[in-house]
Amino acid sequence: MEQNNSIIQFLLNEELRTIDFRSQKTLSPTTTVLNYVRDHAKYKGVKEGCAEGDCGACTLVIAELGADDELFYKTITSCIVFLPYLNGKQLFTVEYLSDKQNGETKLHPVQEALVKTNGSQCGYCTPGFVMSMFNLYKTVKSPDREDVEQALSGNLCRCTGYQSILDAAYLFKDLPKDDKFSLLKEKNIRDLKEIDAKLSNFLIDREKEVYYQPRQLSQALEYKKDYPESMLIGGASDLALLKTKKYQDLPHLLDLSKIKELQSIEKKDGYWEIGAGVSIEQLREAFGNKFSSFKKMLDVFGSQQIRNVATLGGNLGSGSPIGDTLPVLMAHQAELLIESVDERRTEKLKDYLLGYHKTSLMPEEIITKVILPSDENQIIWSEKVSKRRDLDISTVCAGFALKLTKDQKVQSIVLAFGGMAAITYRAYQTEEFLLGKPWEKYVIEEAMEILKDEFTPISDARAEADGRKLLAKNLLLKFYLFTLEI
Ligand SMILES: Cc1cc2nc3c(=O)[nH]c(=O)nc-3n(C[C@H](O)[C@H](O)[C@H](O)COP(=O)(O)OP(=O)(O)OC[C@H]3O[C@@H](n4cnc5c(N)ncnc54)[C@H](O)[C@@H]3O)c2cc1C
Ligand code: FES
Ligand code: FES
Repeated sequence: MEQNNSIIQFLLNEELRTIDFRSQKTLSPTTTVLNYVRDHAKYKGVKEGCAEGDCGACTLVIAELGADDELFYKTITSCIVFLPYLNGKQLFTVEYLSDKQNGETKLHPVQEALVKTNGSQCGYCTPGFVMSMFNLYKTVKSPDREDVEQALSGNLCRCTGYQSILDAAYLFKDLPKDDKFSLLKEKNIRDLKEIDAKLSNFLIDREKEVYYQPRQLSQALEYKKDYPESMLIGGASDLALLKTKKYQDLPHLLDLSKIKELQSIEKKDGYWEIGAGVSIEQLREAFGNKFSSFKKMLDVFGSQQIRNVATLGGNLGSGSPIGDTLPVLMAHQAELLIESVDERRTEKLKDYLLGYHKTSLMPEEIITKVILPSDENQIIWSEKVSKRRDLDISTVCAGFALKLTKDQKVQSIVLAFGGMAAITYRAYQTEEFLLGKPWEKYVIEEAMEILKDEFTPISDARAEADGRKLLAKNLLLKFYLFTLEI
């Protein structure tokens, strides 16, 4: 194995921080960024609300180098991000946004905007809102309503002072375009490049605590062969909750977040190849104009903070029956590229899912890519039904695909549902009924009756079983109405 190091390095605001986990016994590789910043670095501006990524009080901003050495800013919910994620990045805290000029504090333009619109009440959520707004300011020059709502989708204010907060964000178009971060940009890029050049694979092997963060896929595959018991981490947005909410130990982790080979999206002849380490937000941005049905699902996936770290591979890896990308991937007839040192295999998503959180992945295997055929002759549609639009788990989610013959008969159809069974599942009987039939309302109504009895969903806090069946029926009708409009 290549040279490993028990050190991670990152910039905290402008200051270089080096953590050597061998000597630093009070920190663990699964210490969250939030706990580090508050308890070790003593920046107390950032707050803990829920410790599960749901409230946004812990929002911080990360800057990282892109492929062209540009700086990219993104928000994270620091309560569910582990420290090694910061390796080679820059982390900004709310304390660092303002400036001192002639002995006086000069607020950052986004903070000034919030003051101007009275955008803070109890203030507990405010640092998180400020960081999300700062990120919006750095990433979108003239944000529209959609940009603002997306940027703030992961921040809750329990005193519901949203309007004044939104009003502050709408002032952005009139704010100065440069801030102190613009002036520091070149220096920050230089510093990050310097850190990056020195980075090696991070490995800490302590009692009951092994964490490996390689930079190459081949190294990850070798490691998985040697230690099949190690758990993979993409962005940890599922896994971290085992620690923060269930207080479980995560004794052996293999972190894929530094592997560039897993982070590309490439168009090939007739299909797309998406790296398993691509974040949900990266995918949402890339698919904006190409796969509107996919983007629609990604728009309501968690919040921007979650999407920034959560990966496609992680969504597939957890094999949840309500994983939001799965129905739409199934509609696209997606395949997974699954690799180990000894084998490279492709598998259809529908065959990969075996049971509740059970997949065909062997202990030594890693999902490396998703292969997404791009058949422009079919209509693809998706819908997520949840109690809240943003930051909520699906009650039922759907991904449908339809191809019609010239005389408007069903040539092929996929009706994939999440939340209706122990796995994301296709309504095969309904599909079979529809094949070859005219795509007309009376046929759809008959199909809805078949669909109703095809699943035996559970009742839970989100919906009764009968409610889920009704939802599934109505989603088919909604899809039919959608096809009439295009
Ligand atoms: C507040 C909040 C909101 C959320 N909202 C949504 C939502 O709207 N929709 C939704 O679907 N999910 C949601 N999630 C769940 C989670 O964000 C997603 O499942 C996400 O895609 C997981 O990706 P990750 O990279 O963070 O996975 P991780 O937590 O790193 O890993 C998840 C699982 O996948 C495995 N894994 C990771 N990478 C790979 C790989 N390359 N190959 C094989 N296995 C792998 C891990 O071992 C683990 O078992 C939410 C989570 C939170 C905390
Ligand atoms: S503390 Fe609520 S999202 Fe982190
Ligand atoms: S200002 Fe009080 S919760 Fe947001």
